[in-house]
Amino acid sequence: VHSFHKLQAFFRRGIGSDAVAVHAETVRKLQCDEQNGHRALHILQEERRKQAQRSVLISCQVTTNEKKFLKYLSQHGDINKFFFYESYGLYAVVEFSSSESVASLLESSVIPSVSHECVVPFKSRLLWLRNHSLVDSGGQTSGLVCQAQTTTPINELIHRISTQESIEQQMMSLTEASQLTEENSRLRFLVCSLLEDIATAYFPECTITPFGSSVNGFGKLGCDLDMFLNLDNIKGRNMRLPKSGLSLEYQMKRANSERAVTQSILSVIGECVDQFGPGCVGVQKILNARCPLVRFSHQPSGFQCDLTANNRVAMKSTELLYLYGGLDARVRHLVFSVRCWARVHGITSSIPGAWITNFSLTMMVLFFLQRRNPPIIPTLDQLQQLAGPADKSIIDGNDCTFVSDFAKVQLQSNTETLEQLLSAFFEFYATFNFSRLSINIRKGKEQNKPEMSPLHILNPFETSLNISKNVNVTQLDRFVALCQESSWLSQQSRTLNPKKSTSGKNTAMPWGLAALLLPLQVDGIKGRKKKTRELASERIKSLLVSLKKKDSPTS
Ligand code: CTP
Ligand code: MG
Repeated sequence: VHSFHKLQAFFRRGIGSDAVAVHAETVRKLQCDEQNGHRALHILQEERRKQAQRSVLISCQVTTNEKKFLKYLSQHGDINKFFFYESYGLYAVVEFSSSESVASLLESSVIPSVSHECVVPFKSRLLWLRNHSLVDSGGQTSGLVCQAQTTTPINELIHRISTQESIEQQMMSLTEASQLTEENSRLRFLVCSLLEDIATAYFPECTITPFGSSVNGFGKLGCDLDMFLNLDNIKGRNMRLPKSGLSLEYQMKRANSERAVTQSILSVIGECVDQFGPGCVGVQKILNARCPLVRFSHQPSGFQCDLTANNRVAMKSTELLYLYGGLDARVRHLVFSVRCWARVHGITSSIPGAWITNFSLTMMVLFFLQRRNPPIIPTLDQLQQLAGPADKSIIDGNDCTFVSDFAKVQLQSNTETLEQLLSAFFEFYATFNFSRLSINIRKGKEQNKPEMSPLHILNPFETSLNISKNVNVTQLDRFVALCQESSWLSQQSRTLNPKKSTSGKNTAMPWGLAALLLPLQVDGIKGRKKKTRELASERIKSLLVSLKKKDSPTS
């Protein structure tokens, strides 16, 4: 709330009273963002997990009659929420008010009898609607409203944001178009819940919850689904044996290391997912990675899934990012813009390799925001000092303690606009001394690099690790070159706002952030400066020419 009021203030100051009405909607969105941020992540996770347990995923036909479908399902109990979406077919997510309804629905479902194949009789909450009387006759589509689960194509996005009045609005509009929707978030938790049903067949008290960008507030539609198999909540762990008298202990298999245990569990669960998991295809067990995982694609949802186990530190970094994103609305808007910019210019990639990852980019944005004057967000060390006893967390000897209560974090009164921050971000990294310095959000200050990787970003909780160790010189050079060009371009693009240069005419010429998302040409490091400036200025010239044309009365 504290930072929200400040934001309101800076918006009013920044845009003048005539534009306040235009920004009312924006401010409302910011308010929602901030309010979401005020709920601790674990509370949100628990609520979503419960919803997911009461939900089913049903493959329908395009001709399905919504009313009849819902009436049929309601025989089993009240429906809290439902929605339809398309992904290799039409699907419905239906959440009941109680899990008894799900049990009743499953009780009445039948196992398919197939003529030339055999089925693995593994029952799950992924179902097929087969009752033909629920389908409208005539083979016509029933006009069901589907919720989009994918992002807006980049050209459409560029077009859309080009019609915005300010760079600030462009950035907010980009976040709005890219961020996970309520429905997509529900679907993510449902897929975890379906997986949990497989894992709990072996380990009845385990849980599977999403982490990473699915829940940290920085996820974009279409991002992968990182899943965390948690075996820590299996009862009887850390319980002390009584000092005297009899007591019983479980006899259990032992392995040499926790890693070996994780590998064997993931190997078995991965095998089950592969052999029995409905809708799970392309299962790969990547057990020798630093963090062993099972990768597969869940066809009915279209999610690329990474299942890991005992990855507790990653859960902490998820919570940390969630906190930073909720402290000040500018954090998320800047991260979304930078991530989108990086993706269109091939700085990040969906293929693993020497590219900079979204996680590293987010850290770079956070670090940049800590380096503003006054800082927009606190350092991790400061967040650690604000922690209460319940926040204490030591994982494998690493101190992962930091405050979880948003209300305890006092922000400083930085009133920079998103437009200023975007431009300053590019400038900051265009001139950053990557060869000597390391990015450290714990201290919020550059530190000397402890090792010679081209890009060094300290892992905030395992401080001996570099989260961007994979990045090679070529990729870092490309990032710097693109920052240089975008820094220069963003200073010019302000003057390129067609709203300012024309007499109020609504043209959709890419300008501001949209202009930064157009293909940029940057070559190797040699002779870069001169060349990119020429290229950028060429492009600016052609933009101006086409603007003038659009403006002229004869056009
Ligand atoms: N993580 C980490 N250290 C790394 C890489 C990842 O702690 N070197 C943790 C982070 O919490 C991260 C999560 O694992 O958020 C998932 O990693 P990844 O899928 O690579 O990143 P996301 O943040 O989920 O971003 P994306 O949208 O690209 O999937
Ligand atoms: Mg991810």
